[in-house]
Amino acid sequence: MYIKSLKLMNYRNYENLVIDFNENINLIVGSNGQGKTNIVESITLMSIGRSFRTNKDRELIKFGEKNLYSSCYFNRNGLDKKIEVVITKEKKGIKVNGVSIKSIHDLLGNLNVVVFSPEDLKLVKDGPKERRAFLDKEISQIMPRYYNLLTSYNKIINQRNKLLKSGIIDKNLLDVYDENLINFGSEIYIIRCEFIEKISKIANRLHRSLTSNRENLKITYKSQIDLSEKTDIFNIKKELWNKYKENRDSDIFNRNTKIGPHKDDLGIFINDIDVRFYGSQGQQRTASISLKLSEIELIKQEIGDYPVLILDDVFSELDQDRQKMLVEKLKDIQMFVTSADPFHINILDSDDYSVFHIDAGKVVGIENGGK
Ligand SMILES: Nc1ncnc2c1ncn2[C@@H]1O[C@H](COP(=O)(O)OP(=O)(O)OP(=O)(O)O)[C@@H](O)[C@H]1O
Ligand SMILES: [Mg+2]
Repeated sequence: MYIKSLKLMNYRNYENLVIDFNENINLIVGSNGQGKTNIVESITLMSIGRSFRTNKDRELIKFGEKNLYSSCYFNRNGLDKKIEVVITKEKKGIKVNGVSIKSIHDLLGNLNVVVFSPEDLKLVKDGPKERRAFLDKEISQIMPRYYNLLTSYNKIINQRNKLLKSGIIDKNLLDVYDENLINFGSEIYIIRCEFIEKISKIANRLHRSLTSNRENLKITYKSQIDLSEKTDIFNIKKELWNKYKENRDSDIFNRNTKIGPHKDDLGIFINDIDVRFYGSQGQQRTASISLKLSEIELIKQEIGDYPVLILDDVFSELDQDRQKMLVEKLKDIQMFVTSADPFHINILDSDDYSVFHIDAGKVVGIENGGK
């Protein structure tokens, strides 16, 4: 899919902006603080209904203004579509093809966007919490149902922990919580296992090409429950049931729920060595890129069209070889690349690109090029 045009009114430092994008590579350049990230941020607003930088919608309204409007025309699976967002100090309204939507679920899955920023280069090095957040976000993109399951599961974990913390233990209520956790949790396990299996294959293909076939990357699901047997919902439920029983006394003592998908992690191996602990910096970064970008291929497999890719400030962090390899690999994908340092960006021998020069919330120059 690709975004044809974008319109912003009173969005951050843009009073009025209309841009026609290139179907392939869009390079957004300018000095620090001019509004490069603001443009790509507005694209995520139209994709998932919120910014990837903040949860506070009103921060997006231009200083001194009461509301903002943003819209984009895009093409998905050959069909033209339009998304519009209006944010006032009190509320947010979203329209898809001119029709107001009732919930964010109706927006998800229209405009698929993968955002890659410098934090993602730390995905392998970071703690389990960041990797779980990655996993949950990526699965929700292709499966809004997973997002619902997770919300329900987290609600019950919070209630259970609150009960444990209160010190007054109602065992019947704990039983009810455990039963609900088992029901939601087992479905989460199944979906995660399937997702990780798929992503592991794709990430390995990417990783091999980024390392000239020298390294194999393997992603596994790290959990306290045994998922080694072919995953079967009945087995997982049984296993969870036993674990909750086994750990109940220690949960009561520690006032916390120790077992469940909210504690799990990803295992990341290069040539069978745990790259989190034994990998070099470069290996960790490359594995992060492969893992993150595998989402692109997976979305294509699931929905039949490539998502749009945003590389915010990340391209100039890569060496020339990896930049070349990425542009080569991602040539069927519309890309938005922001950089304050365009001389480090080696896309200028690609087939088709546009460069947008940004200065103080305005496009002050456009160059089109390509072979
Ligand atoms: N609500 C707002 N109203 C007006 N201006 C805003 C608002 N929020 C942020 N800005 C301005 O937007 C600019 C930052 O934009 P942005 O983050 O897109 O910069 P950038 O070009 O990506 O910079 P860098 O190269 O440092 O990443 C700042 O000048 C900031 O003052
Ligand atoms: Mg920026």
